Amino acid sequence: MKDLSLHILDIAENSINAGASEIRIKIVEDTRENILSVEIGDNGKGMDKETIRKVYDPFFTTKECKRTGLGIPLLAQSAKECNGDLTIKTERGKGTTITACFQYDHIDRKPLGDIESSLIVLIVSHPQIDFIFEHRRNDSTYILNTAEIKKDLDEIPITSPEVIKFIKDDIKTWLINTNNMLK
Ligand SMILES: Nc1ncnc2c1ncn2[C@@H]1O[C@H](COP(=O)(O)OP(=O)(O)O)[C@@H](O)[C@H]1O
Ligand SMILES: [Mg+2]
Repeated sequence: MKDLSLHILDIAENSINAGASEIRIKIVEDTRENILSVEIGDNGKGMDKETIRKVYDPFFTTKECKRTGLGIPLLAQSAKECNGDLTIKTERGKGTTITACFQYDHIDRKPLGDIESSLIVLIVSHPQIDFIFEHRRNDSTYILNTAEIKKDLDEIPITSPEVIKFIKDDIKTWLINTNNMLK
């Protein structure tokens, strides 16, 4: 996978398969600590002991239609290649949180990529799920909560083109305005 936004899509897909009704995506870019971290948390069914034990194994999956489960091992490998790590916190019936961290300025660190498009894909394909997106760049933090947006929208669907364009532009504007904070 060539950038982190695609990893995020992939890891969030696990949360959807785990029956989550709420998915939290948190990105931290901290150039002073020289860390980039990506966290995906859900309130899905969690993992049992057997799954936790095997989840770093690229040939393990609980999906019946395919033989390899590469999502988590690939992200773990990307993190390790950049002096980082991947950690999993999970509890049966409560949910799972996966955190990957990277040395921010590591030469092999993948770019974040098109983060706003990944989010839009998730929101449009799963409008019933609440997404809480948080992105921090040093001292500036952006937060988007689709549960709140849906409440404000009343009967307009969150998937309507105007709403989607608004969300995408809002994220893009923040990203542009905070670019110089990363220097
Ligand atoms: N958020 C999650 N909640 C519950 N189980 C999960 C979660 N993420 C991953 N898993 C379990 O770990 C397995 C491996 O995940 P992954 O590496 O992404 O491969 P794949 O999704 O292709 O199976 C999944 O099949 C699933 O059983
Ligand atoms: Mg997966």
